[in-house]
Amino acid sequence: MRRLLVLAATVAIASAAAMRHGAGTSRAADAEFGRYLASECLTCHRTGTATSTIPNIFGMAESTFGIVMRAYRGRELPNPVMQNIASRLTDEEIAALALYFSETKQP
Ligand code: HEC
Repeated sequence: MRRLLVLAATVAIASAAAMRHGAGTSRAADAEFGRYLASECLTCHRTGTATSTIPNIFGMAESTFGIVMRAYRGRELPNPVMQNIASRLTDEEIAALALYFSETKQP
């Protein structure tokens, strides 16, 4: 139950941020920023492939992506590698990455 409340709060914050965001910057510029940030991720998350330990994150729904990254950052998801990576990302950067990966099937 607590967990659900945390998730619900996260979604509410995420959509508030998305609305604010939509007012100012262009989504094309965000996707371009996301592509730039994604180069770090590709050492593990290679093009459209998944291994037994590393999931394919291309084509992942934008909202899910944001929720998952914030959950790693908040240490609600246990993986230490992703916790460490997510802890260095701002909300803006996560949003840009979410847009880029959701729009990109095969870079
Ligand atoms: C050092 C290797 C490595 C790097 C670099 C890396 N990841 Fe990951 N990522 C993983 C592993 C391993 C998992 C699976 C973790 C788990 O089982 O919880 C994962 C899981 C994920 C997931 C969850 C996918 C799912 O289906 O549950 C997302 C989203 C994600 N990574 C995004 C990113 C982003 C964005 C970056 C770059 C900023 C990145 N990762 C960089 C190794 C990496």
